[in-house]
Amino acid sequence: MAQALARGLVRGGAVEASDIGACARDWDKLQRNTAPYGFRAFATAAEVVSFADVVVIAVKPYQVEAVVAPIREALKAKMVVSVAAGVTSDDYERMLAPGTAHLSTCPNTPVAVCEGIVVFERRHTLSDAQLKEMEELFSHVGLVLTIDTALLSMAGTICGCSPAFVAMFIEALADAALKHGIPRADAYRMVSQMVVGTGKLQLETGQHPGAMKDAVCSPGGTTIVGVGELEQRGFRGAVIAAIDAIDAKIRRK
Ligand SMILES: NC(=O)c1ccc[n+]([C@@H]2O[C@H](COP(=O)([O-])OP(=O)(O)OC[C@H]3O[C@@H](n4cnc5c(N)ncnc54)[C@H](OP(=O)(O)O)[C@@H]3O)[C@@H](O)[C@H]2O)c1
Repeated sequence: MAQALARGLVRGGAVEASDIGACARDWDKLQRNTAPYGFRAFATAAEVVSFADVVVIAVKPYQVEAVVAPIREALKAKMVVSVAAGVTSDDYERMLAPGTAHLSTCPNTPVAVCEGIVVFERRHTLSDAQLKEMEELFSHVGLVLTIDTALLSMAGTICGCSPAFVAMFIEALADAALKHGIPRADAYRMVSQMVVGTGKLQLETGQHPGAMKDAVCSPGGTTIVGVGELEQRGFRGAVIAAIDAIDAKIRRK
């Protein structure tokens, strides 16, 4: 996620690559993930903190506490932006020094190509000016949405996990195209652009997805035959059940 965000921020013109610094446990891997892009590699988190104004916490959720503890005092003078799923403002209030400016977010991987979503938790400790600065910064990598703490986990599931489902849909449609003779490379390009275009159309027109479906289905036509097949095979129910299953797993943790 850190790499996706860093690449998106540079691609979106938000920052220069040389203004991004990172650390990790595996130095060789860190070098491979920074040097080719012009990002700076640091041996320790303390060095990253002294280099940066905005410190992005992008370790696994269970690692956050151990990573933050040794740099707790240094973070007081910085803006801390977390992308760790499920680690909320209340958690950071407990882990960080009192008065530290922090914001919990949930981005998704399309931020790498500036078509992502970055969900901000409504509860945070940034000043109004800092919040504006973060909204401006992250708007370079996609849509910025603010959501209540109670819904942050679900927003993260919808935005963060669903790219896997969409990729499965793209793969399935491309397989169908291939089955009917369209070369695979052409199939991926046309299917992916269809997904991008359909999403863009919905965002720009605000149309109800059902109305968009109706607009493509003519009476006695061909599309409605495909819609009928998908309904019969539980397409929409399967998608809703997938989200329910993820939510249930998160709640069991
Ligand atoms: N992937 C997504 O689509 C997505 C979406 C939304 C939110 N997130 C959140 O993003 C965070 C990262 O996820 P990910 O998928 O990018 O995981 P990841 O690939 O495992 O990346 C975690 C990074 O943290 C580094 N790290 C671990 N312990 C460290 C330490 N003590 N000091 C410094 N660096 C350390 C790791 O370095 P080493 O490899 O060298 O150990 C690795 O570079 C998670 O909290 C996740 O919830 C991910």
